[in-house]
Amino acid sequence: DPILQDGKPQIAIIGRSNVGKSSTINALTKQKGLARTSSFPGRTAQINLFLINDSFYLVDLPGYGFTRTSREEREDLQHLIHWYLLDSPYHQEKVILIIDANVGLTQDDKDMLFSLEEARKEIIVIANKVDKIKKSEYKKKFEKIESQVGMHKVIPYSAEKRIGQAELTRAVLE
Ligand code: GTP
Ligand code: MG
Repeated sequence: DPILQDGKPQIAIIGRSNVGKSSTINALTKQKGLARTSSFPGRTAQINLFLINDSFYLVDLPGYGFTRTSREEREDLQHLIHWYLLDSPYHQEKVILIIDANVGLTQDDKDMLFSLEEARKEIIVIANKVDKIKKSEYKKKFEKIESQVGMHKVIPYSAEKRIGQAELTRAVLE
């Protein structure tokens, strides 16, 4: 595919369905210093590439673990994600795994993290929707997430309230 092969770095965004991948991309692309985005169909309609500043792509992948789709459809999506991340010729500069800060890591998240680690990806974890966590539970929830995530950077984030926006932008661009 000519778009996927144009040589510009790709930063993949993955996570469970509904965790806020598209919201995070929207928040990122509205940042000062980042140009307006345009969206291109990728190799299939299910991989969306957003060209930022004419210099790199944010790659919006389908979410995993969506229960309202059929098993077959879920498996197809799972294959697509795995192919792009693990078996395709495309290189990701970074992989951003978005989890729900309020839910913590699900089994699917742990499996994904493990696969990415095995493939030696550079991983950034975003704990999105921190605006939904009660103040009194914040510390406990974050300590748990950090212990599950291990050595990777975890960014407390809210796409909706723009919490952690500067830290995320820095992590993406550095
Ligand atoms: P799929 O494309 O289905 O995989 O979902 P997605 O991961 O792209 O999630 P999306 O960005 O569509 O957001 C899902 C829902 O979560 C929407 O209703 C958002 O408004 C909501 N949401 C996203 N980010 C936040 C956040 O930081 N805080 C809160 N409270 N809600 C959020
Ligand atoms: Mg989405």
